[in-house]
Amino acid sequence: MTEDELVALARQAAGRAYAPYSNFRVGCAIESVDGAVVTGANMENACYRLGLCAEQSALTAAQHQFGLDRVARIAVVGGTDATVCTPCGGCRQAILEAAQLSGCDVEILCASGDGATVERRTIGELIPFGFGPANLSTNS
Ligand code: THU
Repeated sequence: MTEDELVALARQAAGRAYAPYSNFRVGCAIESVDGAVVTGANMENACYRLGLCAEQSALTAAQHQFGLDRVARIAVVGGTDATVCTPCGGCRQAILEAAQLSGCDVEILCASGDGATVERRTIGELIPFGFGPANLSTNS
């Protein structure tokens, strides 16, 4: 799948966000090492702190569909202006979990809401010196 196609799927997912409180719609598309794709969007809640980010929504689908250890590439799309949407700190930690399980420095396409601006990052760039499952390994 091309970058444009993965970003387009994330944009479609953002269209299905439930974000009545922030009006900040975020979509995420996750591609597996085999090319399978799952998507997710943010889902807010009247009890604000219970809101779910798009990335974590999509990661849940990825775990169910093909396993966190097969995550290869992620597209995140959000907002209404030209500013690209980068994963929040909690989502970076969640992506790091998948990255360490897959042994791959997962690529993240961070895009503006209209998909016109895309910046490429890796999870290693977004969360350097992170703490993940590898740190808990007893047989290193
Ligand atoms: N949001 C995400 O879905 N992912 C991020 O990485 C950043 C923030 C959502 C959470 C909330 O519903 C809205 O964007 C505004 O913060």
